[in-house]
Amino acid sequence: MTFKRQFLQSVAALSVGLFLSACGKAPPASVAAEPAASAPAAPAPTPAAKVITVGTDPTYAPFEFQNEKGEIVGFDIDVLSAAAHKAGLEVKFVSTPWEGAFTALAQGDRDVLVSAVTITDERKQTMDFSDPYFEASQLIAVPAKSAVTKLDDLKKKKIGVQTGTTGEEVVVKLQGKTSTNIKRFESTPLALAELAAGGVDAVVADNGVVIHYLANNPTAGFKSISDAGFAPEFYGVAVKKGNAELLAQINKGLADIKADGSYQKIHDNYFKSTK
Ligand code: ARG
Repeated sequence: MTFKRQFLQSVAALSVGLFLSACGKAPPASVAAEPAASAPAAPAPTPAAKVITVGTDPTYAPFEFQNEKGEIVGFDIDVLSAAAHKAGLEVKFVSTPWEGAFTALAQGDRDVLVSAVTITDERKQTMDFSDPYFEASQLIAVPAKSAVTKLDDLKKKKIGVQTGTTGEEVVVKLQGKTSTNIKRFESTPLALAELAAGGVDAVVADNGVVIHYLANNPTAGFKSISDAGFAPEFYGVAVKKGNAELLAQINKGLADIKADGSYQKIHDNYFKSTK
């Protein structure tokens, strides 16, 4: 009898706890501690998981692009989804043009950016970055017949870049800010289309994107060239400056997916032939 009452009481306490957490309110610590300790690791976030709005410029295969159904997919999307899931966050990806993305983050229109964003000291002034989740570098795309073998050969050539990217920075450093030979495009595929059309002599962009483009557009007749001077770059998830709580959750999620092998699985899925 006493046992039964106690049992019923703890069931009641348990369901109150579950109900409260389902509502997104923290249950009293005494109630929360018990089910957490005895239950096996819950794979799914609670239905009331916080939804974060994620901005991404999905013109950047294989990192972020739109599939035939118009859904936003890619390596970055899988990485952030998995990391957020570990942190109990739900993600909503919103197509966000690269040029307005940093402003959208600063204004709070997006909670997070995942868009193959290279962590740079300059950007760190206006936003905070997660731990790096991918290493990249610049790569040059030129027509197969081009005599170009290194970045310096592009000093006087017309070069296509995506506006506001690290590719643009590299080219500005080479030719100077006011060079009329730098052709800026709102996306990297547009720059590559201009290369195919003969409007520029080369495109400088992130290696993963150039390699993916070459592999998927063999008829374009491009080759890629690396330059010893290209510095390693690291992609990070960006949050609004000062949003330490969200940043900590994302870093924890990233660490978790690295530790349990799911990051590696996602990586292998997109970059089978590379490291
Ligand atoms: N990694 C480069 C940068 O941060 C290019 C990123 C462009 N990303 C994109 N989704 N369009 O500047």
